[in-house]
Formats: sequence, C-alpha cells, structure tokens
Amino acid sequence: MNYVEKINTLLKPKQGGSPLVLDLFAGCGGLALGFEAQGFETLGFEMDSDCCATYKKNLSGDCIQAKIDSSYEFPRAQVVIGGPPCQPFSVGGHQKGIRDARDGFPAFISAVEQAKPDIWMFENVRGLMYKNKNYLETIISELEGMGYIVEYKLLHAVQYGVPQNRERMIVVGHRGSFKFPMMQKNKVTAGDALGDIAHLVDSESKFLTPSMDMYVAKYEKASKCITPRDLHLDRPARTVTCRNLAGATGDMHRVVLPDGRRRRLTVREGARLQSFPDWFEFQGKESSCYKQVGNAVPPLMAYEIAQSFRSYIDSTDRLDSVAVHSRKNPVQLSLLSE
Ligand SMILES: C[S@@+](CC[C@H](N)C(=O)[O-])C[C@H]1O[C@@H](n2cnc3c(N)ncnc32)[C@H](O)[C@@H]1O
Repeated sequence: MNYVEKINTLLKPKQGGSPLVLDLFAGCGGLALGFEAQGFETLGFEMDSDCCATYKKNLSGDCIQAKIDSSYEFPRAQVVIGGPPCQPFSVGGHQKGIRDARDGFPAFISAVEQAKPDIWMFENVRGLMYKNKNYLETIISELEGMGYIVEYKLLHAVQYGVPQNRERMIVVGHRGSFKFPMMQKNKVTAGDALGDIAHLVDSESKFLTPSMDMYVAKYEKASKCITPRDLHLDRPARTVTCRNLAGATGDMHRVVLPDGRRRRLTVREGARLQSFPDWFEFQGKESSCYKQVGNAVPPLMAYEIAQSFRSYIDSTDRLDSVAVHSRKNPVQLSLLSE
C-alpha cells in the first residue's frame, strides 16, 4: 500500500468508539483523528468556529465551541489529550511562557483534575523543553501530585511515516507502564505524498511573482541557505506551519514545476504532507484552512501514539480483571507474567 492509500484507508474514525477521550484545544482534529482511527470516542473543546466545523464534519465525536480556562467544567473521561497553545513557547512566539495570557496549561491541569483520566497526554513545541524548562517542571510536578507517572519524549513525525520533518514534544501521564510508539526506519518523501498532484496547475494556482523570487533569493542568502527551500520531492518536506503555508514569506512552501515556474502549495498539498486523508474536508476560508492544517498534529503520528494508548488501556483493563479474579483464583495471576 502506498502512502496516499495508507492515509486514506487507515485514518478513518470508527463508529461506536470507546473509551471517551477529551481533546482540549482540539483545532481541526488532527490529533483526534488518530485516536478515532484507533477506536476511541472523542469530544473536542475548541474556541475557533472554523476548526469546530471541520472537526464536526470529519470526525465521529462532537466539538464544543468554547474558550476554555481553569474554571471551565469538564466531564469525567478515561483519557485526556490536548495541544495547549504553544505561542508562548515557540521560537517565533514571544517566549513569555507562564506570564502569557494565552497559556493553556492551567485549563489542561484543571481538566485532568476534574476528568480523573487513567492516562493523559499533551503535545507542544520543543521550546518547552529548553527555554521554558522550569515551567515544564512546574506543570509536571503539579500533575505528578495527582498521582501520575509523567514521561516525555521528543517525537519526529518523519519516524512515524509522515513525509515531513516535524518535532513535537509529547508528555504522557499514566499510572502503570506506558511505551512510546516504536520508530519506523523507512522515510516517506514529499514525492510519495504529492506525486500525483505536485505538478498540477489550475486557475487557483498561486505562482511566485518575479518580486517574490527576488525576496526569496534575498532571504535564502541572508539565512545562508545552501539548498533552496523549494519542495524536494525526493525527501521529507520541511515543517509545515500556518505561516509558511498561508503567507508569502521568504520560507513559504512552494513546488517547482517542470517548466521552472514555482507554485505555492495548495491546502490539499499541505494536508497530504501533514498526513490528512483526501476525504478530510477543511471548513472556512482558505487562510483559515491553511492555519488548521499547519497547526495540527499529523494524524498518522497521532495514530501511532493512540495505539500506545490503546495498548496501555487494554493492559490495565487486563490487570484489573486479573486482580479481581486473583482474589478468587490465584492461578489467574500467571497471566501477569505471560
Ligand atoms: C496547536 S492547535 C491544536 C491542534 C490540534 N491538536 C490538532 O491536532 O489539530 C491549538 C488550538 O487551540 C485553540 N485554542 C487556543 N486557546 C484556546 C482556548 N482558551 N480555548 C479553546 N481553544 C483554544 C486554537 O484556536 C487552536 O486551534
């Protein structure tokens, strides 16, 4: 199965999923799609109306449009996941961390306190591990205080079958033994993702103008860029962001056509590089769709993480059942060492 067939068939919500996953700061549902494809039920919380519309259109679960904070009331759930706003920590942001009004961690911590999940996860940019390490430690110790074992790891999307160099810090809290997903050896290229559409041109195509070409050349010279940042079909793409998809910036994503013209990426191409299936329909204006694509956790990477969550939940369910049985029949304890 090639990459496009894989994302189109594997990444499908399953009806009647369980257990319930609360997805905070849900965006368009990239993270949730991975969980629904692993058979979980999701419920999103998101303040942006276009994101909510996309989530509702494509996922089985509902998305509540709300601006959440630490006073918001969350229901009980076995799993809590989310991407608290990362502007305070990203390299392009202001790096104010906890002092930033956009900080989503108080809401995340409050959700864990109220929902009392067996396992939870948040994802963020790698900056949280470095410049804001003290803040990360504060968040972790607060969550550890609720009885969770907390582990974190920097995951590279390219090592989970996504044709893009993209790093996300994944922090997981659990009460037993959790294993992060296994890395894959084979890298998928941008050509594997866009091979059939990369050279298409239609009336909507946005070509780089001569002044944009000059601007890009100046940017690449100033940033001592050796290889032009055009999309190279023989390797994974650069990180896709809302900024470099939607804006006519020096590092904007663009493909080179056989006749030498350079065309900016379409929403669908950005979505393919992020591993969204072709059936996934983004709602809202083009600029909003670019933003939803660029902000998302690649669903294929989410699918691998969700598989680890599924294994964790299945094993704790099994341990619970063994523990119950063991009181009546100690022989059942042998299951533990299988
Ligand atoms: C990085 S994106 C999440 C991407 C998402 N996990 C995915 O995979 O598609 C963060 C989202 O948080 C939303 N957001 C930021 N602050 C919020 C708040 N206080 N309440 C609800 N949503 C919020 C933003 O609108 C944005 O869509």
